[in-house]
Amino acid sequence: MARRSATAARSIAPWEENHGPSVYDDAGLDDVRELLRGHRRDGTWEPPVMPSTVRQALEMTKDPEASFGGIAGVLESDPALTAQLLKLANSPMFRGAVPISGLRQALVRIGLRGFIQLLMVASLSKVLVVRGHRGITAQLQERATAVGVAAAEIARAVDMDRDAAFTAGVLHDVGIALGYGLLGACDRYLPADICDSPARKWHLVEELHQELGLALAQQWRLPPDVCGAVGFHHDPDAAPPDARQMGWLVAAAIHVVDHAGIRPERPRDCPLGERSFFVLGLALSELPELALETRKRMGLVPIE
Ligand SMILES: [Fe+2]
Repeated sequence: MARRSATAARSIAPWEENHGPSVYDDAGLDDVRELLRGHRRDGTWEPPVMPSTVRQALEMTKDPEASFGGIAGVLESDPALTAQLLKLANSPMFRGAVPISGLRQALVRIGLRGFIQLLMVASLSKVLVVRGHRGITAQLQERATAVGVAAAEIARAVDMDRDAAFTAGVLHDVGIALGYGLLGACDRYLPADICDSPARKWHLVEELHQELGLALAQQWRLPPDVCGAVGFHHDPDAAPPDARQMGWLVAAAIHVVDHAGIRPERPRDCPLGERSFFVLGLALSELPELALETRKRMGLVPIE
């Protein structure tokens, strides 16, 4: 295999590079696609498991007998997670007038629904990670959180399940990080022209990210509409019927976040985004307000 160039691990994110037409040159990619999918099929590569404390705490939130103190106790066995949850609880997304200093206090203050959202965002730090690319990881996580926030706002407007919408929004692009993980796992089998080309790697990851995200959502036993939305957010009509509406909702949330200018992926007048509003029965005139609300909850606009 040819020696790799020093630029091989350069920038990878779509908003950082203006990839030339060669990205879309499919020549030679079929073998790599087959290699990556083969690793999935034979179990050489599997999506990461949900952090056990998060899984346990989420299970407890479904139990009417579980106490706030009990849920907080489970999570407090993981000091790093506790610190992260408290940081999030005090972020503009959840913060009230008084600073939150403990998990039980966070549960009382922001309620169970808000707390579940907090746990999902915290899970992102374990799975939406592109190794060796801290800045890009932070950007992906910021965008994912924003899409979750926008999805919950839209769900409120169209009377859909806000928790499911938030989770689907937060996890919708988790397959991007998983794709880079999969490429890393197959690194030694990849031809040099793929290894040396961040643009071609991005092309592969972009192509595979929905099916990888779907694999993770299914492994985490998330509800079918969440799984379908993660797996088909770029083509909601292809989702299973019970997930189609949630798929359109995530597409609409992406449109809102693009409009809000938070790491935009697509032009503001993207046909898929506009159609998603139509499918959900939302007027496009609601877009600026939804974008502003999302920016506020992300702490990008001071809250009056
Ligand atoms: Fe995507």
